[in-house]
Amino acid sequence: MSGSSTSHTDVTARAEELLAAMTPAEKAGQLTQYFFFSLPEGEAVDPALGLDIQEQPREVDAALGRGEVGSLLFMTDPARINQLQRRAIEGNRHGIPLLFGFDVIHGLRTILPVPIALAASWDPATIERGQAVAAREARSVGIRWTFAPMVDIARDPRWGRMIEGAGEDPYLGAAVAAAQVRGFQGDALGAAEHIMAGPKHFAGYGYAIGGRDYDEVNLADAELFNVVLPPFEAAIRAGAGNVMTAYMDLNGIPATASHWLFTDVLRTTWGFDGFVVSDANAVRNLTTHGFAPDLPAAGARALAAGTDMEMVITDPAFAHLPEALESGLAGSADLDAAVLRVLEAKIRLGLFDDPYVDEDRAHEVLADPQHREVARVAAERSAVLLKNEDDLLPLDAAALDSIAVIGPLAASKRDTLGPWVFDFDLDETVTVLDGIRGAAGDGVRVEYAQGVPVVQRTFPSMFDMFGGNRPEDPEGFDPDAAFAEAVRTATDADVAVVVVGEWQNMIGEAASRSSLDLPGRQLELLEAVVATGTPTVVLVMNGRPLDLRWAAEHAPAILDVWYPGTRGGEAVANLLFGTTSPGGKLPFSWPRTVGQVPMIYAHTRSHEPENQQRRYWDEASTPLFPFGHGLSYGRFEYGAATVEPASVPLDGTVTVAVEVTNTGDRTADEVVQLYLHQRHGTASRPVRELKGFQRVTVEAGASTRVEFEVGPDERRYWNAAVRDHVLDASAFDVFVGGDSIAPQVGSFEVTA
Ligand code: NOJ
Repeated sequence: MSGSSTSHTDVTARAEELLAAMTPAEKAGQLTQYFFFSLPEGEAVDPALGLDIQEQPREVDAALGRGEVGSLLFMTDPARINQLQRRAIEGNRHGIPLLFGFDVIHGLRTILPVPIALAASWDPATIERGQAVAAREARSVGIRWTFAPMVDIARDPRWGRMIEGAGEDPYLGAAVAAAQVRGFQGDALGAAEHIMAGPKHFAGYGYAIGGRDYDEVNLADAELFNVVLPPFEAAIRAGAGNVMTAYMDLNGIPATASHWLFTDVLRTTWGFDGFVVSDANAVRNLTTHGFAPDLPAAGARALAAGTDMEMVITDPAFAHLPEALESGLAGSADLDAAVLRVLEAKIRLGLFDDPYVDEDRAHEVLADPQHREVARVAAERSAVLLKNEDDLLPLDAAALDSIAVIGPLAASKRDTLGPWVFDFDLDETVTVLDGIRGAAGDGVRVEYAQGVPVVQRTFPSMFDMFGGNRPEDPEGFDPDAAFAEAVRTATDADVAVVVVGEWQNMIGEAASRSSLDLPGRQLELLEAVVATGTPTVVLVMNGRPLDLRWAAEHAPAILDVWYPGTRGGEAVANLLFGTTSPGGKLPFSWPRTVGQVPMIYAHTRSHEPENQQRRYWDEASTPLFPFGHGLSYGRFEYGAATVEPASVPLDGTVTVAVEVTNTGDRTADEVVQLYLHQRHGTASRPVRELKGFQRVTVEAGASTRVEFEVGPDERRYWNAAVRDHVLDASAFDVFVGGDSIAPQVGSFEVTA
């Protein structure tokens, strides 16, 4: 992390000067970050949150008055932020400003496609541009720090937070993580119109057993080093100023109190010099884990491990640090080091020089139409065309008289945006129905039918306390009549577009599922529509793979549009009518059924590999769609690849080159993917692993040459036999193509 205009020594000297004048209580205060909710008047809070909405803000306000708060989260109103900032600066002898943080996951006011969708673009430039817009909006209202990107690898789609990450693969995950950090932070911490990024949750949170959020994790070291850590390392190398801890135990030690994670790996090995924040209440939770006996011990042990700031709703463990110092539980060197890191971040972010925001300008920035354009393009580039039999897509609007748009998600503004957003504007949100209506033209009749009722979660989550988060049927909705009407509408139309998926409150944090079925009667509806004989396009709104076995067999076209964001419907219409071609690729293997999960492409091999695809007697053990899969409106042919030289030493680099031709009649994108397999070595290695990709645009009839360098970085892995990274001498197989079942194109030798 290089810092902005101020030099490293200046920053440290300034922080040290402040530190020298602070009392232990003031220091502990700097290390405390409170939630500060301002729910609309009368809005109820789920009692399970354990939050007294009257009392909690009073507690925070009192702490502000004592100068004992370092940071607040969940404020997004610039006027409120200015007010609270004033209260903090005036309430504190040293005039130390507050650092405002927020979950800016995929946009603040302009909502981008959800993170898993951005990853499906396989396009770091699109991702960087998108998160730069998110940063610009957040910074304009006074937010200086986002709790993003979530870089947890997710291999079990029952886990709802899969939607926040980049899927199953560490190589793609690392590229997406770095792009997001660059987008949020810009060139350096404190860059104008940017905010600090906080990759999370360090580390292993995506491995929740049974896919159950917040549950325990069992993670082998080889998997931790080779799969889980690389995206974090990439985020740190891209300059991330912060890291967030994870809720669970890693190998029996709560991740929030893991000295090994924060001190040995993060700081010593990777050279991270930012600060670590706990996940919400995770320091207090050290008592819940049965790790610390009480709050003073919880605070002291988290601090000693290297957790610098406690994110908390109420009654922080870090408030007990002064007494823990007195009793010898906590060390003053640890306390000072943590405070220094937090102060340095505040200085680097420019908070001391410029603590307030210009409220008028904030409103201008939030309204910037350019931001909506970035979101639209991102949605177009994220969509994945899963199936397109007989080129049903793109639709030719000029040849159609009518389109039936079917399914509750087609017309739901809130669901178009996806989870983890709070400051959106529904008026400017374009649904799939709106988008199709806008693009189809006057000559085409667009009829909408909801068809099936919305579905409620069996157990609501804390997010359902936010207004409009739970879906609702229109007044007087009659399910049977609606179903019949949808079938009639489809029968009368030239083409049917059926939108299926999960409602947005069914995916995200605290949104794990025991099934991957389409909730409610959506499959029944789809079957009935397809049975009408009207050509049917299935659009999927999702943040995880769903059971699409029936659709994959019976529906001619399936386009995964994820939760496409503010201008999602417009993007979807542009894809449907061929204004642009889909070019995204799956960032995960799409299982056939929940019983197969976890299912990954980069598996290792053991006994009877010839039966690899028949491990279950009742279902193929192959995915429905492989990792990296995605079609386009072009047609791509791969020429013979060259792999040169044929043999290299351990530190050598091989160049793989291939010519890709679009033999179709439309300009389209292809994501050219390179996979590598090490045939033998000092450990067994996966059958193949992604080690390079490039998204290219190729005009109809044109060719492009794509080159990959396969060097030591692509071949190095962590080996449990020596508990270190190694490079093996071996033969390597090279696979190149448009998905993870790409054919082998060559091989090379690495010699000792
Ligand atoms: C808990 C989540 O695990 C974390 O990802 C999030 O940033 C915090 N809550 C703050 O909302």
